[in-house]
Amino acid sequence: MGESIKGLKRTHMCGELTSQNVGEDVILMGWVQRRRDLGGLIFVTLRDRTGIIQLVFDQEESSDLFDKAATLRSEYVIACKGQVIKRAPEAINPNMSTGDIEVKAEELRILSTSETPPFYIEDNINVSEALRYKYRYLDLRRPEMQRNLIIRHNIANEVRRFLNERGFLEIETPMLTKSTPEGARDYLVPSRVHPGKFYALPQSPQLFKQLLMLSGYDRYYQIVRCFRDEDLRADRQPEFTQIDIEMSFVEIDDILAINEELIANIFRQVLNVEIPLPLQRMTYKEAMKRYGSDKPDTRFGLELVDISSLVASSNFKVFSGAVEKGGSVRGINAKGAGAKFSRRDIDSLGEYIKTYRAKGLAWINVTQEGVKSPIAKFLSQEELESILKHLNAEAGDLLLFVADENDIVFQVLGHLRLELAKRLDLIPNDKYNLLWITEFPLFEYDQDEDRYVAKHHPFTSPMDEDLHLLESEPERVRAKAYDMVLNGNEIGGGSIRIHDTQIQERMFKALGFTNERAWEQFGFLLEAFKYGTPPHGGIAYGLDRIAALFAGRSSIRDVIAFPKVQNASDLMTNAPSFVDENQLNELHISIDKKIENKDV
Ligand code: AMO
Ligand code: AMP
Repeated sequence: MGESIKGLKRTHMCGELTSQNVGEDVILMGWVQRRRDLGGLIFVTLRDRTGIIQLVFDQEESSDLFDKAATLRSEYVIACKGQVIKRAPEAINPNMSTGDIEVKAEELRILSTSETPPFYIEDNINVSEALRYKYRYLDLRRPEMQRNLIIRHNIANEVRRFLNERGFLEIETPMLTKSTPEGARDYLVPSRVHPGKFYALPQSPQLFKQLLMLSGYDRYYQIVRCFRDEDLRADRQPEFTQIDIEMSFVEIDDILAINEELIANIFRQVLNVEIPLPLQRMTYKEAMKRYGSDKPDTRFGLELVDISSLVASSNFKVFSGAVEKGGSVRGINAKGAGAKFSRRDIDSLGEYIKTYRAKGLAWINVTQEGVKSPIAKFLSQEELESILKHLNAEAGDLLLFVADENDIVFQVLGHLRLELAKRLDLIPNDKYNLLWITEFPLFEYDQDEDRYVAKHHPFTSPMDEDLHLLESEPERVRAKAYDMVLNGNEIGGGSIRIHDTQIQERMFKALGFTNERAWEQFGFLLEAFKYGTPPHGGIAYGLDRIAALFAGRSSIRDVIAFPKVQNASDLMTNAPSFVDENQLNELHISIDKKIENKDV
């Protein structure tokens, strides 16, 4: 058993000590990073959340204390009393923030021992993710993980401070709520009291925050957990955190203005970075046209160029055929890549884009000696020249083209653009490019369901000037919706909402709901709209995504204390798990016999 802490009060955190404290008596507590024995001296580095300090045990001063120190091992938890002293000049460690001082130990208590941990508690460890997540509590001891969670805390803190000062109220909304058909798949929670019925965990507090506007709470926010049963990626977790905001009596400009101030404020306070305001605004249409993406990374060029009109009547059927069918031919000039990339590099780009449904990649390598290209023979001299001119081609450039229906062309070139930027090392990592994407389409067509679905959500208002197209040409209706994009990541999205029962009913109809079904699913909202609804709108940010970008991490898992892995399981607790037969009986649930009870 460990020794007692009795009578000892911690006076300082390890990383806070400086040469200013020289001569002071201190009491420190923390974990042993490492012990080094040097004859009559033992050096122990002690770690807590703030950093590391060196303790010195001198055999000549006290051999009992020295012998006790000799038993210390990594990750033991200790308390140590001693005096801060200056290190000899030759012993100064410039790699440690406390490297010019150390603590001459006078008393040591071993509060808890430790087995050898499965990996070193330090930055840049090279171990499998599975091991890190199984021992997440040890992983979280590492300084870089602690820095990440501190950044996350600082962001949340600044958000609260900023919004509180501007009259926003933080209001909680239910976690046990109603399953709704739109959006991602729900996580369901069976009800014991209502056999056969289920709650759903919220995908977002969307309807509740709208109802709060109706109830007169005007400016609302909540830092809130949301749940979506979707395929996981680096920027997606089944449970994630939104900074959720809603305001009444506002138009798009009001919402964008206060939100860009909010974000600029977080940058200033947390990263000490100034973001020039107002932020750039780009319509969805322009973003797709120039970048092939509704979350463009604008830190580099490689913009898309439309050559459809140049090749519409070409003998090269791959090109002219795509245009004829209503699609397009677009390309990217990968400046300088012609001189850098081998034939094999180009082929691997062709392979890369197949994941995005590309049928092929056409390319022209522009050299001093003329063009090298598998498609040059299909093009007339005139066509070739006009293409080169249109893309400002010079010797050394590589021109890449995709011909297809527009959705595919944008998707393929959007991804190709990012891949090229990586391979050509064009992405500056000290730059923060923030912009708004506006005028999203209200609907998108869902091939599987063979109907229109809301691009944002069914409560998003159409643009006034497009409202008349809602029934006749839904695909042309633009929404009062906006996303905030940071370095090619969607960090937030929102909209002005529909606040009129009739328009909301028209919207449901356009989504293929019968009136009965709309009332059955969303009756509480449609009913509420009858009782005096203020115009309102809002936004939600992905806190995890913002924190990951601020911490310079490529996965949001690194800024979540206890995340799920790719298959949505928690390797530490082993959730999800089978449950007791009795629990299931109480819930009137039986498990399909085909499912083997593997983990019991
Ligand atoms: P939306 O669905 O766009 O909007 O979500 C808002 C933001 O939340 C983040 N996000 C995620 N982060 C991690 N893992 C996920 N699975 C995940 N899904 C979304 C993104 C996204 O921009 N109620 C609306 C907002 C509104 O209209 O006010 C909503 O939820 O950064
Ligand atoms: P093919 O006529 O199929 O031999 O294709 C001739 C060239 O056009 C090859 O280099 C293909 O990679 C390219 N190609 C084929 N389909 C497409 C497409 N949809 N977009 C761009 N290039 C294509």
